[in-house]
Amino acid sequence: MAPRGFLTLGDVPVAQWPALWDRAAHLKQHRLATTLAGKSVALVFEKASTRTRVSFEVGVYELGGHAVVLSSQGSQIARGEPIEDTARVLSGYCHAIVLRTFGQERVAALARAASVPVINGLSDQHHPCQVATDLFTVREHFGRIEGLRYVWIGDGNNMANSWIEAAGMFGLDLVLACPEGFAPDALLVTAARSAQARLGRGSIALTTDPRAAAAGGDVLSTDVWASMGQEDDAARRRVAFVGYCVDGAMVARAAKGAIVLHCLPAHRGEEITGDVLDGPSSLAWIQAENRLHVGKAILEHVFSPSPRT
Ligand code: CP
Ligand code: NVA
Repeated sequence: MAPRGFLTLGDVPVAQWPALWDRAAHLKQHRLATTLAGKSVALVFEKASTRTRVSFEVGVYELGGHAVVLSSQGSQIARGEPIEDTARVLSGYCHAIVLRTFGQERVAALARAASVPVINGLSDQHHPCQVATDLFTVREHFGRIEGLRYVWIGDGNNMANSWIEAAGMFGLDLVLACPEGFAPDALLVTAARSAQARLGRGSIALTTDPRAAAAGGDVLSTDVWASMGQEDDAARRRVAFVGYCVDGAMVARAAKGAIVLHCLPAHRGEEITGDVLDGPSSLAWIQAENRLHVGKAILEHVFSPSPRT
């Protein structure tokens, strides 16, 4: 039986998400538990991190387990040890592995070679722990995730891709405004639309007009214009993304009571203005704290009985 992992949002069946989020809400109120007692979790970072690193390290501690943090530079990974060998060795010491890396194929390769559950702590293609948290934050604020208009403004990146997967799974109405040449993964859009057709609800629209996309939106999300690994392309992107800044005028076009999400880190004055990020419609700081609670519920989930084959 393959260990239960969490490489994309779809690795947790739709029917199990409400219980996972309820557990996260419980853990938000009652921080300490013993569900990971005697368990060690390797947190492996091939890219920088503040929230993912700290929330998982603290989360493992608060569940009674022990976290071991590894960076590629501080380990043999940067010296070329294959990810599959790393997976085999870490599986002998630890009970789960969280990996932040570049290509999705690398986290998939780690998961195939590991005999313990693997959690994707961000890849170039997906950021499932973050969008799981964003949906929890929406649910906490509005009391539901259904019947809302979700708007993505910015790069068609890992976050956008995970939002698309979520829209397919839960039948959400999602509009993505991305500049020409920066659209999200077309295959994921097709798959998510097929999932929505099976469900009989939800929509995914793509546009290059961010202001039109924002109109009537309940949940406005954005992210950096140059993700980790794209730093050399930042200047070109700053030009391509003119007009994509989530500012007061854009928020004014959204629905009454709309919220603004940003996974952070943010660049004030680029993808979002300081007054919006620090203003009343922003839930970014609650969202950041929620990474801890949802991350803990995800950890418990991958250790829970009856793994899928
Ligand atoms: N949102 C997020 O994943 O933040 P870090 O890059 O700091 O982990
Ligand atoms: N899209 C960003 C998210 C950072 C949390 C990146 O990949 O750098």
